[in-house]
Amino acid sequence: MRIAVVPGDGIGQEVIPATLPALTALSEAFGLGISHDVFDWGADQWLATGVGLPTGAIDRLAREYGAVFLGALGDPRIPDMAHGRDILLGLRRGLDLYVNYRPIVLRHGVIDLYRENTQGLYAGVGGSITRSGTVTVAIDECVYTRKTVEDFVRFCLGRLGRTGRRKVTLVHKSNAVPNTGSLWQDVFRRELEAFPELVGSEEYVDSFCYNLVRDPTPYEGVLAPNLFGDIISDIGAALMGGLGMASSASICPETNFALFEPVHGSAPDIAGKGTANPYAAAMSLALMLDHFGHGAAAGLLRVCLTEVAGSDAATPDLGGKGSTQQFMAEVTDLLKRKTSVLPDTATP
Ligand SMILES: NC(=O)c1ccc[n+]([C@@H]2O[C@H](COP(=O)([O-])OP(=O)(O)OC[C@H]3O[C@@H](n4cnc5c(N)ncnc54)[C@H](O)[C@@H]3O)[C@@H](O)[C@H]2O)c1
Repeated sequence: MRIAVVPGDGIGQEVIPATLPALTALSEAFGLGISHDVFDWGADQWLATGVGLPTGAIDRLAREYGAVFLGALGDPRIPDMAHGRDILLGLRRGLDLYVNYRPIVLRHGVIDLYRENTQGLYAGVGGSITRSGTVTVAIDECVYTRKTVEDFVRFCLGRLGRTGRRKVTLVHKSNAVPNTGSLWQDVFRRELEAFPELVGSEEYVDSFCYNLVRDPTPYEGVLAPNLFGDIISDIGAALMGGLGMASSASICPETNFALFEPVHGSAPDIAGKGTANPYAAAMSLALMLDHFGHGAAAGLLRVCLTEVAGSDAATPDLGGKGSTQQFMAEVTDLLKRKTSVLPDTATP
């Protein structure tokens, strides 16, 4: 299996390279045959050439690769994030990665947060009117097609049912955003009928955020439109201990192609200091291994990450004294030690 690796900008260029030796170690120990190529799509290339996502990139990815492993995009030299939209939204739309899975891993268990990833307020429909250099009218439309909402909800309910979850909550704001809000409610209620093992509930996004922060324990599966899911996942990251902890997978259910990335951005405030926490990036690799059916390798990576995250080798945001490199070097060493004593049956 070939992976396209895109470190991107800022701390993406630190956390992504730091995690790759762990992937190589796992691939060798479990005989997974994973290889990767690195692509330098990001701010530097955009500023030098004006190219974000090169022509033909989507076709090439779909033809030659199984997944993308992405760092982050965002650079203070490009304040309007034009290159980020071109690359990240280009990948999401071009590869139809409409399911974004962002697990919120807490002490009591995991909340499976699913965010629709391609439409809603991020559909890119809108415009602005400028007079004498000042924007006087600005419009961003919230667009949802029934087909995308149906496909998204059906896929997520299927995954929740298969993984033994019992409760699923739809987050919406149909009292203030009635058109797309009631489309989501209608689809959710209809699709839920095919999953009698799941108990559905619906919450307004504002009250959901309040309840999640006060007590996350009642939640198991959560489905949200694009913007609400994006915001909820940052609240989830805060509950997990910071943005350095939250991982994600963006999936096209029809092709199984997927993009794995930490939830955090390029963090210009700490970029270049060597203190960025690589946990979220490495946990995204664990999601990738799970996605391709390598659950044992994913499980071992999680065990090693958790162990090192509680040690002095962890980065300062976790109370440790280590650098990005030291954290992952420790994880890779631990993986190698643990896989060297695994019985042969560990190889899938
Ligand atoms: N998917 C993406 O590529 C993505 C996501 C979010 C933001 N961005 C972009 O990233 C840039 C910075 O955005 P921001 O500052 O709002 O969000 P951010 O996630 O980059 O950083 C927010 C805060 O969290 C800290 N942080 C983030 N990741 C960390 C890590 N791994 N270890 C330790 N601390 C970490 C940062 O230092 C910062 O204080 C912007 O250009 C934004 O548009 C990109």
